Amino acid sequence: MENQERKKRIFSGIQPSGELTLGSYMGAIKNWVNLQDAYECIYCIVDMHAITVRQDPAQLRRRSVEQLAQYIACGLDPQKNIMFIQSHVPQHAELSWILGCYTQFGELSRMTQFKQKSQQHADNITAGLFTYPVLMAADILLYQADLVPVGADQKQHVELCRDIAQRFNGVYSPTFTLPEPFIPKMGARIMSLGNPENKMSKSDPDGCVYLMDSPEEIRRKFKRAVTDSETAVRFDKENKPGVSNLLTIYCAATGKTLEEAEAEFAGQGYGVFKPAVADAVVELLRPIREESQRLMADKAYLQSVYQEGAQKAQRLAEKNLSKVRRKVGFVAW
Ligand code: TRP
Repeated sequence: MENQERKKRIFSGIQPSGELTLGSYMGAIKNWVNLQDAYECIYCIVDMHAITVRQDPAQLRRRSVEQLAQYIACGLDPQKNIMFIQSHVPQHAELSWILGCYTQFGELSRMTQFKQKSQQHADNITAGLFTYPVLMAADILLYQADLVPVGADQKQHVELCRDIAQRFNGVYSPTFTLPEPFIPKMGARIMSLGNPENKMSKSDPDGCVYLMDSPEEIRRKFKRAVTDSETAVRFDKENKPGVSNLLTIYCAATGKTLEEAEAEFAGQGYGVFKPAVADAVVELLRPIREESQRLMADKAYLQSVYQEGAQKAQRLAEKNLSKVRRKVGFVAW
């Protein structure tokens, strides 16, 4: 009964391993904002995931709090959602250890992201980088999440999470809800401005727009955005990836359809189009940047949000984790 009546639960997170970008906003956070009324949402700042590659401690600390301010400035309401910092809820680490004992070495070896990241960080391939998908499974299963909004690159991790949950449920008795990856159709996939074949990444400063970039920086980045040798503003992902990406950004920023945007720039070249995209993004990000700055000046408020979030999350997490401890045979105390 209770299950039928309750709203479906959503869990998602972003690593504070860099500044949030226009890609994180248009591809993820904007969707989270749309989901906050219909679902029970838990949005996490996954600092424990971030340390799978080396981080500067002062920057990690600053970014974790800044990311919370930016979540709120983007429209996530701390009254409606549980928002917290992963390391404040030690149950994640504990469940991760337990689930690691129900995960095969072979499964982790097959993870595409592990293969990529271990190439990028060949001098520092840690056990944490390897077992990262287990921690992610713990994040999701700890809260019995039904849906996990993620980019396509994270789908494999959610599938592994389901496999682990299913295995655990099979060995013991039904314990974990099997989560579904939730890849919203509307979620815009924003590509790098300098290299439109690749996803916009926070580690590529020139190809990405940060939420906190000034209007001048935003205009400069769009001015240098890669296009092609034609002049027509037309959506054609195959042959015109740069222009198509700019059109996607323009539409996401203004709410216009592709047809409307193409018609608007018909007969005009990139010299008109690129500054127009830049202006649309400047206006989109202006209130987000200003609100983030205002919130960052109010550390006490941010602290109250993440403390309350951690308390709520701990309560839910502990309830599930205590069942898991019992099932695997740990002595209650
Ligand atoms: N691994 C995700 C990423 O890098 C972040 C993440 C960690 C996450 N835990 C999660 C996403 C749980 C969804 C659910 O993008």
